[in-house]
Amino acid sequence: MTASHVAIIMDGNGRWAKKRLLPRAAGHRAGFKRMLALIDHAFSCGVTCLTLFALSMENLSRPKEELDGLFGIFRDYFPAQSRRLKEKGIVLRVIGNTSLLPADIQEMISDAERLTAGGENGALVLAIAYGSMQEIVGAANRAVREGKEVTEEEFSALLGTAGLPPLDLLIRTGGEVRLSNFLLYQAAYAELYFSKKLFPDFSNGDFDRVMEAYSLRDRRFGRI
Ligand code: IPE
Ligand code: IPE
Ligand code: MG
Repeated sequence: MTASHVAIIMDGNGRWAKKRLLPRAAGHRAGFKRMLALIDHAFSCGVTCLTLFALSMENLSRPKEELDGLFGIFRDYFPAQSRRLKEKGIVLRVIGNTSLLPADIQEMISDAERLTAGGENGALVLAIAYGSMQEIVGAANRAVREGKEVTEEEFSALLGTAGLPPLDLLIRTGGEVRLSNFLLYQAAYAELYFSKKLFPDFSNGDFDRVMEAYSLRDRRFGRI
C-alpha cells in the first residue's frame, strides 16, 4: 500500500547551517528549496495529501532576527509557488493560528488559498504558527459553544485538518524523536518514521526509502 496522506516535520535547518558555518537563515533557505522539490516529488509518487510543518506555535518565540528571516523567505517564494500549485491543480491549505503572522503574510496566504481552491490533483497543507494542543483545545471549545457532545468524526471536523484523508505516515527529519506539538490527534494511527538526515539533506531518494519502508509495515489497527 502506498501512503496517501504524508506529513513531514521539516527539522534540522539550523544545524545544517551551523555545520557549514553559515547563518541559520541560510539553513532555512536551503530547507525551503528542498521542500519545493520534495513537494513535486511526493505528488509524483502517488501522495494525494502532503502536510508540512513549517513553523510551530513555539517557534514564534524564537529571536526576531530568525523570524524575520523566515518571513522573508515566505515573502520571496509564496506568490510564485502558489501560481505553480494552481497550474498543477493542487489545493493549498494553511493550518495554524495565522492571525499571529505579519499582516502581509496573512494576505498572501488567503490569496494563495483562494487561487488554488477547487484544484483536483491533491492537497498541500502547510502548518504555519501551528500547535496541535491549541488546535484540539480550540475544537473542544467550539463543541462546547455549540452545546452538544461530539463523536470522533464530528470532532475531526472541528480541527484545522477537517475533510483531509486520515494521516498514513508521519516523517520527522533532523534526528529528534518527538512530535513537538504536531498533529497529535491526527497521528493516532499514523506510521511514524524518524530520519537522522537534517531537512536540507533529506533527498527525494530518502523520501523514496521511507515510502518503501512504509509499504512493508503491517498496519493492524488493533486487529490480529
Ligand atoms: C526547522 O529547523 C525549521 C523551523 C523550525 C522553522 P530548525 O530551525 O528547528 O533547525 P534545528 O533544529 O535548529 O537544526
Ligand atoms: C518542530 O521543530 C517544528 C518545525 C519543524 C516547524 P523544532 O525544532 O521547533 O522542535 P523542537 O524544539 O526540537 O521540539
Ligand atoms: Mg529544530
